[in-house]
Amino acid sequence: MTRKLTLGLFVALLAMGMQSCGDGPRPANKSGHDLWLGDITVPVNAPYKELLTQYDKELGDEGFRIKHNDKGLAVIYANTEAGLMYGTYHMKRLGECGELSKMNDEIVEVPAYKYRILNHWDNPNLTVERGYAGKSLWKWSELPGKIRPEYEEYARANASIGINGTVLNNVNADPCMLTREYLEKVKVLADIFRPYNIKVYLSLNFAAPKHLANLKTSDPLDKDVIKWWNDKVAEIYSIIPDFGGFLVKANSEGQSGPQDYGRTHADGANMIADAVKPYGGIVMWRAFVYAAESPDRAKQAVEEFKPLDGQFRDNVIIQIKNGPVDFQPREPFSPLFGQLEHTNIMAEMQITQEYLGHSNHMVYLHPMWKECLDADTYQKGKGSTVAAETLGKVHGNTAMSAIAGVTNIGDSVNWCGHQLAQANWYAFGRMAWNPDLSSEQIIDEWLKQTFTINKKFVEPVAKMMLASREACVKYEMPLGLHHCFSGAGHYGPGPWDRSSRPDWEPAYYHKAAADGIGFDRTSKTGTDAVSQYHEPLRSLYDNVETCPENLILWFHHLPWDFKMKSGRTLWNELCYTFQEGIDEARGFIYTWESVESFVDPQRYGQVHDKLVRQAKDAIWWRDALMLYFQQYSNMEIPADCTQPQHTLDELRRFRLRISNYETPALDKLPEYNL
Ligand code: GCU
Repeated sequence: MTRKLTLGLFVALLAMGMQSCGDGPRPANKSGHDLWLGDITVPVNAPYKELLTQYDKELGDEGFRIKHNDKGLAVIYANTEAGLMYGTYHMKRLGECGELSKMNDEIVEVPAYKYRILNHWDNPNLTVERGYAGKSLWKWSELPGKIRPEYEEYARANASIGINGTVLNNVNADPCMLTREYLEKVKVLADIFRPYNIKVYLSLNFAAPKHLANLKTSDPLDKDVIKWWNDKVAEIYSIIPDFGGFLVKANSEGQSGPQDYGRTHADGANMIADAVKPYGGIVMWRAFVYAAESPDRAKQAVEEFKPLDGQFRDNVIIQIKNGPVDFQPREPFSPLFGQLEHTNIMAEMQITQEYLGHSNHMVYLHPMWKECLDADTYQKGKGSTVAAETLGKVHGNTAMSAIAGVTNIGDSVNWCGHQLAQANWYAFGRMAWNPDLSSEQIIDEWLKQTFTINKKFVEPVAKMMLASREACVKYEMPLGLHHCFSGAGHYGPGPWDRSSRPDWEPAYYHKAAADGIGFDRTSKTGTDAVSQYHEPLRSLYDNVETCPENLILWFHHLPWDFKMKSGRTLWNELCYTFQEGIDEARGFIYTWESVESFVDPQRYGQVHDKLVRQAKDAIWWRDALMLYFQQYSNMEIPADCTQPQHTLDELRRFRLRISNYETPALDKLPEYNL
């Protein structure tokens, strides 16, 4: 029988949850946008959604088709209620963007990635690792008894952008998450998310059998350990029948893993994969591994995982960060994307701005992620892009395509800590649905739905946001520099910082010395990381003449007076690129001031204060890095650049006292005149 759903039913579920509010309490369960906006061409009460009686292969389990029926009504067709829901959100998006006329032509939308997943790095004690938007959204001590309206708002917002899975807890996982007590809490969230087509997943602690059951070992080949995991998984599925599976950080940054017992990543992943397989669960096993002793951290994921290619079960997906080091403002894509043939792989993007100014800086991240997805690995010749690799198209295995984003969501009133940072949550969802969407289209949609469709606002603000990622690269670490951060919360510069491990010190990466600067990863004199890339990239990166200048210090160690394409010395090029970043960050303030009349005073003021800080931070970055490097180069900052406002000593003495769970208050940072 054909089931027809009226709009009324779905209007109750609707609300582009990506609305911002000011400082007041978040309104309970209401976004104020339950009505269609824009050019309404469909009667609101018309029955215009249809579940199809015959499975439409083109649409699959989540896609939808919108076309007009013979009565002239726009109808959403789908095989599943999830498809109808996504279609409804799509119509609503068109309405809010003033684009309902697009429905005059038939629309067919099918999500590109099967698993579109948020990763929360939330701890049971409510801290959020690298979280800059307050505390965790999940109030574990109140659950399962008290249910906050935000849980459903979160689900609605995610459903509206196509997210269909969420990992609730930190990859540095507390074993307690797998106890019965916590599973009962997780169940409550799973029940709330289910109608929105969102599954819950958990990060697991590989040593859980030792911690929770006092077993002598957590060896993945030990029969008691295997039994413990099988029993635990059975328990989970008895509580949450559609549990999605696990995310695992193993043998990385002090986390336990199979190598503790002389086993491989494949041994560990397969043990868990076998346990969840009968229930349809998956394992996302992270490739973020590196040891202090290695001369080049950037090479280690390939070194560890390539030899294991083909050894992983088919419900394991290797989750790979976009770059080979760690979410820097610009990295080349991780070469591991092009090195496996018989293993499922997925990309992990970071939505939270650990290295891009936390929630103090306005940085629209979609251009950075798209740069990675569009990059060609050349694994099977031209066209083997990271997107094609992770969609399973290069090796003809599309069944397990997946993408993950480490969220920027907390319990802050505006969800993400910065009024404009929701754009990144939104963009991640839209990209997971359709990686071909342009940065321009996504920011245009978001601005229209969040503020106004008035062009006089949308055009300049979109332009500003589109420029923001490149500006951040320029004012933090241009020309391929990386990891020059202060160890204190990864906020602000600290090129001089020392640490307990060499690979946690900026000098490991920038290698500034009298003879020059940059990490030599070339084949003849360096670590030969270039050889992890296929031709023509290997040669392109290896040769200093052809290496793109925006990555040149990632791959080459160059003298301070090296001649750049502009004709300037490397030293001057660094100075002027920083200057461009500073000027652009200053320009963002003027752009925002020019649209003041379109924004309520609260949101206007919050964004303005942060843009001012962002521009000051830009000068702080330049001062710190160039004054520090100057000790080695003995060269002057050109007179037509903004001159340093603090001495190197002053900057070195400045101590930022923040944990890994917070962003610094604006008035606790070094003062600068703009
Ligand atoms: C970074 C980050 C850590 C995080 C880690 C990871 O190193 O600073 O806080 O745990 O990435 O991705 O596992």
